[in-house]
Amino acid sequence: MSSANDCYILAIESSCDDTAAAVLHNDQVLSNVVANQEIHRAYGGVVPELASRAHQQNIVPVVHQALRQANIDKKQLSAIAFTQGPGLMGSLLVGTSFAKSLSLGLNIPLINVHHMHAHILAHFIDDPQQRKPEFPFIALTISGGHTQIVQVNDYFDMKVLGETIDDAVGEAFDKSAKMLGLPYPGGPLIDRYAQKGNPDAYEFPKPKVDPLNFSFSGLKTAVLYFLESQQSKDPDFIKNHLHDICASLQKTIVDYLMDKLCNAVSATGIKHIAIGGGVSANSGIRQALKDAEDTLGWTTYVPKFAYCTDNAAMIGIVGYLKHLNGKQSDYGVAAKSKLSF
Ligand code: KG4
Ligand code: ZN
Repeated sequence: MSSANDCYILAIESSCDDTAAAVLHNDQVLSNVVANQEIHRAYGGVVPELASRAHQQNIVPVVHQALRQANIDKKQLSAIAFTQGPGLMGSLLVGTSFAKSLSLGLNIPLINVHHMHAHILAHFIDDPQQRKPEFPFIALTISGGHTQIVQVNDYFDMKVLGETIDDAVGEAFDKSAKMLGLPYPGGPLIDRYAQKGNPDAYEFPKPKVDPLNFSFSGLKTAVLYFLESQQSKDPDFIKNHLHDICASLQKTIVDYLMDKLCNAVSATGIKHIAIGGGVSANSGIRQALKDAEDTLGWTTYVPKFAYCTDNAAMIGIVGYLKHLNGKQSDYGVAAKSKLSF
């Protein structure tokens, strides 16, 4: 078996609708395999039962592929890391049971990982093109299930400063996209159509809540009423103005996220800002952060696309950092759909 300074981690992520496995050699990614579950598209959102079943079908081939691409035999592995939560229970159970069995069979440590820690610590994956954040930094985690502002003092010392009181920002993108007749997940499509639209064509309200919290349910309703009212005048309104609607909506959401980050910088004095989670793939938030480097003097950290949306490499880096620190779990560990920070 390899030493703690020279370890191979197999990581498994199955919290929602992507079955993913990765192999890391220390903090370097050797393979990062993701099987997307296309089946949910027909339903306009993730169907938990179908997700669980698809994970069961995908997990063995996905793990095999990750090992093969890394050119690693399972006997060389030092530990197995897996997503314990938060996420869909039926989905988490598949990854958790698989990780437990393999760890028992190979007699190597089992390491539980918090999905949202992983979105943040993905920044510490070794990559010559990416700079690593300096502690302390502010992390904005924006995904289909979460929207949080976290103060990160160290790898395992994080404090949630604010979060959404209702929907996550990814849901705001996806549900608005659904109203526009776009397939699930619509976030990336809104981003794509927004590139060709006028961001000032329409105005949407920014929900008012505490300075570090978020709310997106009001925005969703505002989009619904706006579309109903416009369509009553022009039944082809969406088709004729799709780019402008997407650009205006994206601008509203990005401005709102940036307002919250400004509030977090004022509250903490920390000007090192990292983003994580699927919505950090959005071109609008990426550009806004780049601009903030010049206009506000922030140092910003944006993950590679492959480490934004759900992936197992991010679970692997947390597994590696925990392994170095002797943090492992026992076999009583259970999947948790809600897992505190
Ligand atoms: O982190 P993630 O892959 O899964 C969760 O843990 O939720 O995030 C998925 C979310 C979806 O809501 C998807 O629409 C959104 O990330 N997303 C985007 C973009 N790419 C992914 N939203 C806006 N713009 C994008 N380019
Ligand atoms: Zn995620």
